[in-house]
Amino acid sequence: MTIEQIAKFFKLKPSLTVAGIQKEAGIKGNALSTALQNKEELSKMNLDKLLPILIGYGYNAMPQKAKIIAIVNNKGGVGKTTTTAILGEAMARKGLKVLMIDMDSQGNLSQIFSISTENGQVADSMLDNKVPLPIQQINENLFVVPSDLELQKVESVLLTAPSNQLRLKAALSTTATVGFDFILIDCPPSLGLLTMNAINASNSCLITVQPESSAVVGLNSIFDVIEDVNVYSGAGIKVEGIVFTMVKNNSVHTAFKELVRETYQNFKVFNTEIKESVDVSKAQAIRREMFVYKSNSTVGKAYEELATELLS
Ligand SMILES: Nc1ncnc2c1ncn2[C@@H]1O[C@H](COP(=O)(O)OP(=O)(O)OP(=O)(O)O)[C@@H](O)[C@H]1O
Ligand SMILES: [Mg+2]
Repeated sequence: MTIEQIAKFFKLKPSLTVAGIQKEAGIKGNALSTALQNKEELSKMNLDKLLPILIGYGYNAMPQKAKIIAIVNNKGGVGKTTTTAILGEAMARKGLKVLMIDMDSQGNLSQIFSISTENGQVADSMLDNKVPLPIQQINENLFVVPSDLELQKVESVLLTAPSNQLRLKAALSTTATVGFDFILIDCPPSLGLLTMNAINASNSCLITVQPESSAVVGLNSIFDVIEDVNVYSGAGIKVEGIVFTMVKNNSVHTAFKELVRETYQNFKVFNTEIKESVDVSKAQAIRREMFVYKSNSTVGKAYEELATELLS
């Protein structure tokens, strides 16, 4: 167990504190926090004390590969892209290495981060499996694979192509993603071929819902699609949960949130809600990362809480 692995475990378990674990393991002084700060290995004696405690908290189950989450809803304008972007930023700020994939030919995610497709895009890799996904770096821990209108052509070209729902999964397997903790896929507003590619490439789906009548009607179709994929492929893709976005403090939103919680009792509905905030459109309008635009915005904090809830 290296100090790097221990540091990663703490990042993936935000409910644990270094001080608490240090005490529980009976490690004297501040040896663990000092080692983590200085990136120095622990002594064998301290490692022997620490290991059983960390195993008790699930160290052995720590994922070795990136967890892939598709952000899905066939309804348009319900916060899929915004959630991919700010949740990605929030996770990256926790020290996790995050890759975001723009699976929407509108290219909104790429635009938010001002990443162009001049060095390649998702479409290239979906058409030719020998082309790895062109990963672009945004900041130390945050990366994106961009898209533009070219992706729309892929849908028609792939219509009768073999394994046309597995092209993104195949592209991810030929791309070097070692070291990434999370891969977030921003889906287009449909349950067509591109979203099917995203779902098939994922471990789970996160569904963004604006608590209004038009957004709640038809929500069932997403769960049906995920179930169908699992029935026919046996892939075991999970529903990560439902997250309410652009929430207003009014009785209509309150009523629809209750309706969703009642209707989908078998699924997780995140306690963290993303409230409507003018900061989102302001930051996006000037193509600034949310936390660069405003380091302590309410909406940024909400996405940090969502990241913590997702990790717990
Ligand atoms: N919490 C929020 N507060 C205020 N505005 C928001 C919020 N989240 C998203 N928006 C705005 O709402 C619009 C739709 O959001 P977004 O693009 O994230 O949705 P989407 O589901 O990805 O849309 P599409 O289906 O077209 O891809 C955008 O203009 C975005 O700036
Ligand atoms: Mg979008």
